[in-house]
Amino acid sequence: MAIPAFTSTFVTRRTRTPLAQRAHVSKRRPLTTMVATAPKPLVKPASPCFSSGPCKKRPGYTLAEALGDAPLGRSHRSKLGKAKLAEAIRRTKEILQIPADYRVAIVPASDTGAVEMCMWSMLGERPVDIVHWESFGKGWYTDAKTHLQLEDLREITVDEYGLLPALETVNSSHDVVFTWNGTTSGVRVPDGADWIKDDREGLTICDATSGVFAMRIPWPKIDVLTYSWQKVLGGEGGHGMLVLSPRAVARLESYTAPRPLPKVFRMTKKGKIDEALFEGNVINTVSMMCVEDYLDALKWCEAVGGLDALVKRSQDNLAAMEEFVARNDWVSFLAKEKRYRSSTSVCLTLDLPKESVKALQGMLEGEGVAFDIGSYRDAPPGLRIWCGATVEKEDITALCKWIEWGYEQVKE
Ligand SMILES: Cc1ncc(COP(=O)(O)O)c(C=O)c1O
Repeated sequence: MAIPAFTSTFVTRRTRTPLAQRAHVSKRRPLTTMVATAPKPLVKPASPCFSSGPCKKRPGYTLAEALGDAPLGRSHRSKLGKAKLAEAIRRTKEILQIPADYRVAIVPASDTGAVEMCMWSMLGERPVDIVHWESFGKGWYTDAKTHLQLEDLREITVDEYGLLPALETVNSSHDVVFTWNGTTSGVRVPDGADWIKDDREGLTICDATSGVFAMRIPWPKIDVLTYSWQKVLGGEGGHGMLVLSPRAVARLESYTAPRPLPKVFRMTKKGKIDEALFEGNVINTVSMMCVEDYLDALKWCEAVGGLDALVKRSQDNLAAMEEFVARNDWVSFLAKEKRYRSSTSVCLTLDLPKESVKALQGMLEGEGVAFDIGSYRDAPPGLRIWCGATVEKEDITALCKWIEWGYEQVKE
């Protein structure tokens, strides 16, 4: 068994938790084992915010500084309001290195709104493959099957959290809907998306809300990409972002879905793409306070070094988690393989009964060390620690020491 470096005392004890009661057991452990007694850490994370959404604000965030320029009480259709919206689109394109011929819009109802407006507008023209491996992706499958009632629909999935489905079984003549990073299982698609063919006939519709700004998106493989401000940038809830490739635009202009479309889903006017939407002329009223907050986050992205730096920050956070998992035999990644392990929503299982995991979580919250780190309600019991770009590596390192201490406390 790995012994934590800071351990001062050891006791020999019989492992008491029956196997069946443990939340998850994935590492070999002898029946009789040396158990470390971790001292209570002296250093707390500078921020206890490790929620997977809304995620932590960027380092140094203050309301006064971030929102000081918000055009409050002004119309989003005023010259000033429109300029702010257009700036948000322009900076988004630059930071994410989105190809010039792709369109970017701000849309209602967060990531969910962005995904559903595309599913409702575009699907039905050809067979559809939905690839899912956790709660949110499953939601898109339910949309397609139960609500859109698509007839030519394939479900490509796995029967256990922590696995990635066989992506290579996706048919490139079908449309495909998938999630870049499965927030509730900590499983993401590997970099590069080689399983998506460059000469595909179908559209690729990607919910990237917990990947974008922390992972690289291979734009030529993506026709529709969606996300919300509340995730990797630590922005506010309620607003979604939509990125469309020229092929996605062609679909909107050539296909009329056989279903009513609410106003908030409409992207075309008289059969043509509504270009104004992609210049900041939003469908309905946005919060100018949230827009300002998003602009603040984008400016921070630029200040820290752009996409490369954001990806590195998240990777470094994951590396800190990997060190923690490597030195403790009672904790494992829920993701079974490193190649698809998320660097943002890091999901862990512990060699503890569910109630003890909850007690650990409560203890860390009570200490003001970590908020909102319980696993998602549909996922196996465990911890889910947000390691996106706005989180500081030192805070992850400090948190891990507290988890080591807390584990010792609740194990009894
Ligand atoms: C992968 C994924 N898709 C969709 C959503 C829903 O996002 P929103 O609440 O911004 O609509 C979430 C939220 O956590 C998510 O993680």
